[in-house]
This record gives sequence, C-alpha cells and structure tokens, in this order.
Amino acid sequence: MSARSCLSVILAAGEGTRMKSALPKVLHPVAGLPLVCHVIDAAAAAGSGALAVVVGHGAEAVRKAVEARAPGAGVYLQSERLGTAHAVLAAREAIARGHDDVLVMFGDTPLIESQALETARARLAEGAAVAVIGFRTQNPAGYGRLIEREGALVAIREDRDCTEEERKITFCNGGLMAIAGAHALSLLDAVGNANAKGEYYLTDVVEIARERGLPVVATEAPFENVLGINNRAELAEAEAIWQTRRRRAMMLSGVTLTAPETVHFSHDTVIGPDTIVEPNVVFGPKVTVAGNARIRAFSHLEGATVGEDCEVGPFARLRPGARLAGKAKVGNFCEVKEADVQAGAKINHLTYIGDATVGAEANIGAGTITCNYNGYTKDRTEIGAGAFVGSNSSLVAPVRIGDRAYVASGSVITKDIPDDGLAFGRARQEVKPGRAPVLRALYEAEKQRRGGSKV
Ligand code: UD1
Ligand code: CA
Repeated sequence: MSARSCLSVILAAGEGTRMKSALPKVLHPVAGLPLVCHVIDAAAAAGSGALAVVVGHGAEAVRKAVEARAPGAGVYLQSERLGTAHAVLAAREAIARGHDDVLVMFGDTPLIESQALETARARLAEGAAVAVIGFRTQNPAGYGRLIEREGALVAIREDRDCTEEERKITFCNGGLMAIAGAHALSLLDAVGNANAKGEYYLTDVVEIARERGLPVVATEAPFENVLGINNRAELAEAEAIWQTRRRRAMMLSGVTLTAPETVHFSHDTVIGPDTIVEPNVVFGPKVTVAGNARIRAFSHLEGATVGEDCEVGPFARLRPGARLAGKAKVGNFCEVKEADVQAGAKINHLTYIGDATVGAEANIGAGTITCNYNGYTKDRTEIGAGAFVGSNSSLVAPVRIGDRAYVASGSVITKDIPDDGLAFGRARQEVKPGRAPVLRALYEAEKQRRGGSKV
C-alpha cells in the first residue's frame, strides 16, 4: 500500500425518492450492512485513512450509521442539493487539510471494490491530477460519457448535455474519481453550473484540469463496481452480486458450499476451512463458524458462535448468544438462544434451549424446553456436564441440573437436582387390567345417545 495519505469523500446526501421508503437511501442494507457502510469499508481497504461523509436527506440517521462504522469520520451537511461538485465542497474543511489523494465516491454504490480505488490512486501516484473510474456498457443512456481524444480523457459530458455523436460513446463515468489533493480545492472551486441541469458537476473538473495542462486519465472497472442503487429492484440486484462474490470468496477460502446459490451470508459472516454448508442456509449478522463443522440444510443462524467439528441442523435455528463449543450438536427443529452449549453436548431434536448452560457431553432429549420466561422476567437454566435430560421435559428456570444428573422423561423440573441426582417430575402411572373394553362401551353408548354421530 502506498505511503501517500488519502481522504475519501463519500456523497450521501441523495433523497432516494425512488426507494419509496422512510429510510434514507444509503441506509438500505446489502448483506445486512447499510449501502454507505460498504463504501466506507472499500475506502478503508484501499488505504484511505481519513473519511468525510456528506449528508443531506435523513442527515441524523445517516450520521449515526457512519459514526458507528467509522468513529473518526467527519460528517458534513450539504443543506442545498446543487450538484456533485457542490456536495464535495461541503467537506472543504477536510479537503483543506492537505491529503495526497482525495477519493470521491457515492454512498449508493455499494459494490465498489478496493482494487478499483487502488488503481485510480496508483495513477495519481504516477503524476495524474485526476483519475476517473469508468466502465463500459452497451446501454450508456443516463450516464456521463468519457470523451477521449487521441487516447487521452478530455472531458466528461453528462447524458443530457451530449451531442448525438457523443451519445454513442459506450465508455462511461462510474461517478467515482481520484483527485490529487494539491489541486482538489482549486479545481472544485472553478466548477460552474452552466449546463442543462444548472448543477455544479463534479465531472467538470476533468475539462478544467485539462485546460490547466494537468494530466487527466480514465481507469476502467467492471460495471458492477459502480452500480448505483436507485430503487429496490437495483437493491436486490446488488444483493445478488454481493452474495455471488462472497460465496466464491468463501469457497476459495476452504469452505464447501454444496449449493452455493442457495446460501445467504451476512457482511460479517466468518467461516473456517473444511466446514461444509449444505443448501438453503441463512447467516444473519454476527455469526462465526470454526473449521470442520457442518451446517446442514435449511438452518438459520444469527449472532451465534459455532465451534470446530460441530453439527447444526438440518432445520436448526441459532439465535443471538448461542455459543456452541467443539463437537456440540444441535439437530432438527431445535432453537438455541443466549446459551453456552459446551463441548460434545447434544441437543438433537425438537428442543428450545434459552438463557442456559448445557455442560460438556450432556444429552438433551427430544422435546425438552427450558421455560426461561414467565411473561415478566427471564431466568437461567444450568445443566451440568454429562447430565441426561429425558425427552419431553420442561426445565422451569431458575433451576440447576447437576453434573451427571438424570431427568426422567416427561418431567417438569422446578427444583435443583444435585450432581448425580435422579429426578422424576411427573404423575405416577396407574394401570387397571381389563378396563379398556369397559371404557370403549361407555364411549359407544354416548355416541349412540347423540344419534351415532361423532359430534
Ligand atoms: C453521476 C455522474 C455521471 C455518472 C453517474 C454514474 C456527475 C455530475 N454525474 O450522475 O457522470 O455517469 O453518476 O452513476 O457527477 N449528490 C449529492 N449532492 C448533490 C448531488 C448529488 O450528495 O447535490 C450525490 C447523490 O446522492 C448521489 C451522487 O451524488 O449519490 C450522484 O448524484 P446523481 O445526481 O445521482 O448523479 P447522476 O446523474 O447519477
Ligand atoms: Ca445516480
């Protein structure tokens, strides 16, 4: 990474009315992370040490999201929407601090990769005053065109300002730009608003730099890098591209995805090598899975930590605070929330474990429920190491099941069980020999009394 200092200015003042949403556009999520935060991350990955975000519509909400992701960021208000150059100048104070490179990005372009930004920065390091990030498309309508003469970029012309000839150009402005810090303010200050929209266009710095004899270059990035989100269809398109990229990165890092196109990741999902993820698994935010685990089909995980050699699912739900140590098993139709499931413990079928500790090698029978909530407060259930909880038991918290203790099936446990204790918490069974035919006769008589019908 270059030793040059870099400021990123992210424009996030857009109204985004086509989202038809109460939420500011740049706060809509891709992979669970607001659009603007994806751009912030790409800037950081490209070696940008300073950040200025220009906000307008929904300023306070956007400020909060930005500060949560990048605590050192400067947030600047563009109170009137007079164009992209005007927006960049809202961050004048940050630009005036004198960085080597200034990167201008849009907050609604979440798929920008640090590679594209690094390429543009490299051109500045080679002496360019302005490096524009362009892309090629067969459908250039609506985009600014990159006007080149003898292989050199001479201007960017907005679609509505183009001549018929210029409209045919398919090399377009992605909107993102790297400007040498030494020239940034003087170039931006020279931008006027004599164009079809009456706006101060950032793109005009290209022509202005040329007029001053400063070197200007165009770089090229894949289209998806500069895909701007304007409506929810484009949001879904960006999500799909993001997921495709992440699936591939996961597989290349050693994770097996048997049906990659059906697995959904969150922006922060971490999975170790040799873990197998079966079809139709959804990772919500804050999930870490260690290596060599198996996440079986149709499982849903969020806020969970899964240790090495664990098996989860099929059809399991791990909710926030589910922490599975190595070799633990959580099987079908089980829900685990805010619980430490220690090494080798098994929760295999139809169970709810919430606000609990399940000791190492404990076995939780089918249909076991920790009754953690009485409608007012929540309490914990402690299950000791090596304990055996028989099927269909209700463990009414707060309660402790000792190490190696044994709970008889169908028990309702309301009192602590000491280590090695055996507890029965169910009605005693009565057996009446020969009484089944008597009962049947009774029922048949009642049915006839009601006219032979079942009701
Ligand atoms: C811009 C480029 C165009 C390029 C296209 C790529 C300019 C003048 N045009 O056009 O060459 O092909 O992006 O998608 O730069 N914004 C503000 N304040 C403003 C105006 C805009 O913050 O006063 C923000 C918007 O929220 C948006 C970004 O700047 O995130 C781009 O503005 P927009 O009006 O969408 O520009 P385009 O017409 O798409
Ligand atoms: Ca746009």
